[in-house]
Amino acid sequence: MKLKTQVGIVGAGPAGLMLSHLLHLQGIESIVIETRAREAIESTIRAGVLEQGTIDILRETGVGERMTREGFRHEGIELRFNGAGHRIDFPSHTDGKSVMVYAQHEVIKDLLRARIGDQGQMMFGVSHVVISDFDNAAPRIRFHLDETEFEIACDFIAGCDGTQGVCRSSIPSEKLKTYEKIYPFGWFGILCQAPPSSDELIYALHDRGFALVSTRSPEIQRMYLQVDPADKTENWSDDRIWAAFRERLATHDGWTPKEGRIFSKVIVGMRSFVTEPMQHGRLFLAGDAAHVVPPTGAKGLNLAVADVRVLAEALSEFYRSGRADLLDQYSAKVLRRVWKTQRFSWWMTSILHRFPGADVFQYRLQLAELAYVTSSRAATTTLAENYVGLALE
Ligand code: DHB
Repeated sequence: MKLKTQVGIVGAGPAGLMLSHLLHLQGIESIVIETRAREAIESTIRAGVLEQGTIDILRETGVGERMTREGFRHEGIELRFNGAGHRIDFPSHTDGKSVMVYAQHEVIKDLLRARIGDQGQMMFGVSHVVISDFDNAAPRIRFHLDETEFEIACDFIAGCDGTQGVCRSSIPSEKLKTYEKIYPFGWFGILCQAPPSSDELIYALHDRGFALVSTRSPEIQRMYLQVDPADKTENWSDDRIWAAFRERLATHDGWTPKEGRIFSKVIVGMRSFVTEPMQHGRLFLAGDAAHVVPPTGAKGLNLAVADVRVLAEALSEFYRSGRADLLDQYSAKVLRRVWKTQRFSWWMTSILHRFPGADVFQYRLQLAELAYVTSSRAATTTLAENYVGLALE
């Protein structure tokens, strides 16, 4: 079956859905295709911190209502080391900015509801996706759905299909440069039935490794532990998990985390990855399809939203005036911010984790850096302005 649209979007994660929503508001048609089922994308658990710029664009474009009602505004984080907590205040270091703790899959649900309400075309559970002809004026996306073969003819393809998607790998490899760093540790994430242990997120460095206390709701807590990336969740009984959190989060004044039934356990690897450029002909990459950050600081979704905001503006300009200069500048423009955010995610990861094989001198430097960050106004400002999100230049 043959279909036609202006922008064919591969992938219904935050990048694809947000792009489709922004284009619709500019009167530009798109079709979103997604290999996973809708229920799967609505329930995939990812990070949960929205930067000020992400909060603003969700609100300005009419999809921030539930976030405003159910999300938690956080005006700071705690850095915990040497058995004591140190608060980083955001508004006083960033002209009043803050973040929102609101899970990624809730943002997805809100975007899906908006797209459905606006009669947006989305196709879930597709397979055999092939993209072609994006180096000339007639790009095509072919795929299967329920035994039927489809072909979408479009003006542009947006590759929003994540690290393992087909879009990036469809670009001839000699046209791309990739940069990658693999970290020698992973995060063990749990969800548990317990109220928040603290009003703000706690990022802790301990001799035994990193720990993070986050939240999802007044009844559900999200927590992470640094582990070996090859470790298995089966090796971690609930008792062992809680003992590790108590040890790594311990303070001199006897603080302990709130504990509860653990109902989700997952171990994820950590890497930094960037593709340059993020465009080839009429194919534009956005979000994880182009770059991946380690989770410390929760920048993944925020980067995806910043990418598609620039891409939507460039496409709008093209359809309005026929001018392609903003499209030509897309990759360079977003990559400047991507690299700064890569730097921040790498830095947060580097100061807060124990590196296997690192000597004690290195550990003392990390502690000194944390002491500096939490005591110098300049260094605190650096952390705060990155955490709430950098502006696009
Ligand atoms: C969460 C994830 C992060 O990577 C982070 O830095 C903070 C919070 C979360 O899932 O809540």
